[in-house]
Amino acid sequence: MKSLLNPFPLGVYNGPEYFCNRSAEVKEINQMINHGANIALFAIRRLGKTGLIHHVFNGHKSNKKTACIYVDILATRNIAEFTNLIATAVYNKFPQQNTLGKKISELFKRFRPTITFDELSGTPSLSLTIDTKTQKENTIGQIFQFLDKQKVKVVFAIDEFQQILEYPESNTEAILRTQIQQLKNTTFIFCGSNQKMMHQIFNSAKRPFFGSCSNLNLGYIDEKDYQSFIKKKFNQRQRTIDDEALDFICRWTCLHTFYTQHFCHTLFNKNKVHSTLKDVRETAIDILNLNEGIYFQYKNLLTAAQWNLLRAIACEEHVYQPQSKLFIEKYKLGTPALVKRGLDALLEKEMIFYQSGVEKPYYEVYDKFLMRWLQYK
Ligand SMILES: Nc1ncnc2c1ncn2[C@@H]1O[C@H](COP(=O)(O)OP(=O)(O)O)[C@@H](O)[C@H]1O
Ligand SMILES: [Mg+2]
Repeated sequence: MKSLLNPFPLGVYNGPEYFCNRSAEVKEINQMINHGANIALFAIRRLGKTGLIHHVFNGHKSNKKTACIYVDILATRNIAEFTNLIATAVYNKFPQQNTLGKKISELFKRFRPTITFDELSGTPSLSLTIDTKTQKENTIGQIFQFLDKQKVKVVFAIDEFQQILEYPESNTEAILRTQIQQLKNTTFIFCGSNQKMMHQIFNSAKRPFFGSCSNLNLGYIDEKDYQSFIKKKFNQRQRTIDDEALDFICRWTCLHTFYTQHFCHTLFNKNKVHSTLKDVRETAIDILNLNEGIYFQYKNLLTAAQWNLLRAIACEEHVYQPQSKLFIEKYKLGTPALVKRGLDALLEKEMIFYQSGVEKPYYEVYDKFLMRWLQYK
């Protein structure tokens, strides 16, 4: 992969060189893939689920026996669109020049496809004929079944999987579960950023996917690992960074991957040969100033009570008992009932999240930069 100007790229995965650690998780996922276990990958938003999947898949790049296929279904609205997205990914994965590619093209002909090409990238997109109830329920299964019988192991990663709960077909979970259950040589990684919906799908005993996957909870990257990664990236570009500056970055961004990465990206763009605590402090203020407009927009979208509660949670960083007298009086939040309503609204809007995977669960502001801005103001 090409060398980037800034070693802390934002957005898409840019190869192992720009990816920090996650070696234990990679190992665990690969073991599950080898054992043919389907995986449900859980983590709060922006912690690195999607990046991790691409990182695992990158490791299989030259492995001819395994085909890794990634789809993000966030934009799909029904089972037909879901099927078309999978079909397109499969079609693009196997070039038509090789035997399997030819077989796949033959398979898709059965579904009378329309092929369109993306204007910019030229990538083909398939739209199969999926009109009747039977077609909606069976087409996806036929694609999976066909691939499962080939001489290649297929790993499907379906990102933003909770989107299936928005489909009008109420039996989507049951349809997928039934089809997936029959496969022998195919593994699925389901991942999604809406924690509540993901738990609904995988962890409610009454639902089709319950017990069908091994759960993997992605945590924060270890601070020491992250610090040495950042330092190394600076050093590789003939730059240095002070230890106290590294401490500040990790603390200030709470090691929430997206925010740590974003911070380092911005700091690196300052083009300092040597970065000190003063430089990182300035970078922090720059980031907050740059985002201020968005934060005022948030304020307009919330009620005064919700905004006050958000600020109170930001100031405390971790709130264990939001309905306690102490917390309510300290921040003048009214009554426990009002706080409860506020919490529900902020959770629903994903402005805060509930960290339940620890001994003493707590509420925390989702966006770490917003949290710092609220503290700062
Ligand atoms: N291990 C990592 N090393 C470096 N940067 C990472 C790592 N994991 C994630 N990131 C950065 O964090 C951002 C958010 O990660 P992403 O995988 O999109 O999170 P999620 O899918 O959990 O919402 C990515 O755009 C990437 O810049
Ligand atoms: Mg993601």
